[in-house]
Amino acid sequence: MIRTFRSGSALRGTLVPPPDKSLSHRAALLGAMSAGRVQITNYLDSEDTRSSLRAVRMLGATVDAHEDTRRSSSAGAIVIRGPGLRGAASGAAIDVGNAGTLLRLLPGWLAGQPVGGSWTLDGDASIRRRPVDRIAEPLELMGAELDARSGRFPPLTVTARALRGTEYVLPVASAQIKSCVLLAGLLAEGTTTVVEPEPSRDHTERLLARAGAGIRRAEGRLSITGQDALELEAIHVPGDPSSAAFHAVAAVLVPGSSLVIEGMAANWTRVGFFRILQRMGARVIGALEERANAAAAVEPLCELHVAHGPLGATRVTAAEVPLAIDELPLVALLGCFAEGETVVEGAQELRLKESDRIATVVDGLRGLGADIEATADGFAVRGTGGLRGGTLHAHGDHRLAMLGAVAGLASRAGVEVVGMEAAAVSYPGFTADLVALSRSRPVE
Ligand code: S3P
Repeated sequence: MIRTFRSGSALRGTLVPPPDKSLSHRAALLGAMSAGRVQITNYLDSEDTRSSLRAVRMLGATVDAHEDTRRSSSAGAIVIRGPGLRGAASGAAIDVGNAGTLLRLLPGWLAGQPVGGSWTLDGDASIRRRPVDRIAEPLELMGAELDARSGRFPPLTVTARALRGTEYVLPVASAQIKSCVLLAGLLAEGTTTVVEPEPSRDHTERLLARAGAGIRRAEGRLSITGQDALELEAIHVPGDPSSAAFHAVAAVLVPGSSLVIEGMAANWTRVGFFRILQRMGARVIGALEERANAAAAVEPLCELHVAHGPLGATRVTAAEVPLAIDELPLVALLGCFAEGETVVEGAQELRLKESDRIATVVDGLRGLGADIEATADGFAVRGTGGLRGGTLHAHGDHRLAMLGAVAGLASRAGVEVVGMEAAAVSYPGFTADLVALSRSRPVE
């Protein structure tokens, strides 16, 4: 689908962002792993998170729609009754679609099922380029059997074995690998410890603590002990900061804009991008969680006010990268409008996302007139005060499609996005929300 986004009207009004994708995946999995009935309110209804519901159904869970509490587009309430911690039905071929998080987390649960259970995970063309050796290595150390194409890519077969606890030092700061090992740790004998080089999103830890798991969290070190059962009563999924970031950037870049973002996750490990925005001088006001409170079990919410204003360049360092990983394409776009040179370093993980996001962002924005170049571990962009516009290909990557749309609103000539349908992976109502905000009345 080709869609053109023209420069022009300011964004005004209130955005209720869609529910958080990362947390929706985790709620589906931990809901199915728990004993009894788990109600999830504000579950994201998108292509990726539907893949998680399909997967837990194949493993023996029932999933029922509950009363509709929809506030944003793409939200719903569901009730999951799962097979419990050790009761996943064996033998399924699981299609994860485009969902890298499902691909990396689910094997942690499956690896510790009753010995001999076996499952194959596969997905779309993009999933077949996403490495799984990063989870196979720790799961094999714990005793499971994994078999991947060329040892590295899906299809991935997981065969359950009796797991033993281990200490695993993450080779990269990745919430997906960390979460996979923690889920396996729930089913292992003894204690499993994960050592993180830098903090990454901590939704799994928070949910596990709420489910009564024996998890200990210290700076850079997480330990979990094997459990008999998990008990989760209800989960409310906050609004997704990674989705809200697109409209926030549109508001910062389009003159006259003033936006309120309601019900967004304020979790310190998820709002690194908003801290970068503030550092660039953008007008972003709201109660983001402080690092000192980040060992909490709850997921805090916030209301943000974002308005148009001038920007200065910034340098994003390696330690900040995991806390803003999915929003880094937007830093590149902001850099086109900021005074000076904006640099992102230590972000080589971007090459392993739904597309090679160093290549697709740099090529995409350069095609719109940006002065940007790729580096080995990120990119450097010089602010030129604006962007010409043109055509941007999404390469099947939802965040590229939405980047192109926001670039279009901020450009002089507009942007034609080829492959806009990819946005439905995380944010099916993206274009409708953008159109609604461009038409709404001012809020003070
Ligand atoms: C995610 C973690 C990040 C992120 C992805 C979602 C998660 O990946 O890029 O979109 O839900 O745990 P990595 O942990 O592999 O960096």
